[in-house]
Amino acid sequence: MTDKVQRLIGRMRDDLSQVTPSAIRSFDQEVSKIPGIIKLTLGEPDFNTPEHIKNAAIESIKENHTHYAPSNGTPELRAAVANFLDKKYQLNYSAENVIVTVGATESIWTAVSSIVNRGDKVIIPTPIWPMYIPITKVNGAEPVFLDTSDNHFVLTPEKLEQAIKENGDAVKAVVLNFPSNPTGMTYRREDVKAIAEVVKKYDVFVIADEIYSELTYGDKHVSIAEYLPDQTILINGVSKSHAMTGWRIGVLCAPEPIIKQLAKIHQYSVTTATRVAQDAAQEAFENGFEDGSEMKLEYEKRANFVYEEMTKMGFTAHQPEGAFYLFTKIPASLNMDDKTFCRKLAYENKVALVAGSSFGPGGEGYIRISYAASMDNLKESMKRIKEFMGSRV
Ligand SMILES: Cc1ncc(COP(=O)(O)O)c(C=O)c1O
Repeated sequence: MTDKVQRLIGRMRDDLSQVTPSAIRSFDQEVSKIPGIIKLTLGEPDFNTPEHIKNAAIESIKENHTHYAPSNGTPELRAAVANFLDKKYQLNYSAENVIVTVGATESIWTAVSSIVNRGDKVIIPTPIWPMYIPITKVNGAEPVFLDTSDNHFVLTPEKLEQAIKENGDAVKAVVLNFPSNPTGMTYRREDVKAIAEVVKKYDVFVIADEIYSELTYGDKHVSIAEYLPDQTILINGVSKSHAMTGWRIGVLCAPEPIIKQLAKIHQYSVTTATRVAQDAAQEAFENGFEDGSEMKLEYEKRANFVYEEMTKMGFTAHQPEGAFYLFTKIPASLNMDDKTFCRKLAYENKVALVAGSSFGPGGEGYIRISYAASMDNLKESMKRIKEFMGSRV
């Protein structure tokens, strides 16, 4: 690096020094070099996008939908999103309540950076998908972590209220993600109601990341927006429900005056999401109503298999309730922290998992297994983990 470049880096915005590149992605890249490794690291459906959606994209290209779309998304897609959320989760949105974003990731960026000023606080229940943490910090705000590991990874209303009271007016938002990445747990109607009762008392936003809403294995998903329509900034998308991670389409929903504010950050960040991908997503929302349910049946089989195999080996976990992750505790008898466990398992027995401490307080001592992988790979991984455990008795 030249001296000039070094000096210029020193002049870049201070908040960048608060964040580092994703630990999950760098571990994934590192272990990808191990010959024969099976990776159960990334949260990515192994299914391909359904044919009818791919065909809609092909038609879109043929019709020369290769120009900019309106910044908030095509009116047809926005209407299809509102209709989908109404039919599935009884949410009273119309097209005006929707912004189409570049994946749910951009929804998170847009929501957080539209809300916080320097020094504000964002309440983040943990363990959580880590993206929320750097996005909060890079915007100059401070995460307030609430460890949920003592209540099967569900935030209690008491803990939430105490944190809001302790941190006062600096609290601008509470993040909720369920079904949860990484824990595989979800919130029941009574949990959602109780959290809503607390939040209602304060002028804070709820950033509700419900990207896994189509993947619940017990009761149907209940959205917090049903109880808190004024305060919720709802995040969803097609990445997980329709196996469309590569298309980069997410959605943000909120009351129309709030949407108008969010739209500024969205517009000045990305102009609009890719037009052809928007047409594909429209097909997913209009005619792919049950696409997620079909994939879910398969995920559920895998969830049960992985859960049973791991518990037989002495790991402790709650039976997965949603998303496609098993979050399980390493047996104490192994006397190994989660990072060491993942590194040794990857290099010695060629299975890559994610260390629980990557997901914030409460994740230490756990590992996350993404079972969005083929049954063959899952069977082989379980065999290899058994060998790894066997070599340590
Ligand atoms: C909880 C959660 N939110 C958001 C995302 C990002 O979704 P997208 O790929 O649509 O940006 C993920 C991806 O893993 C996730 O697990």
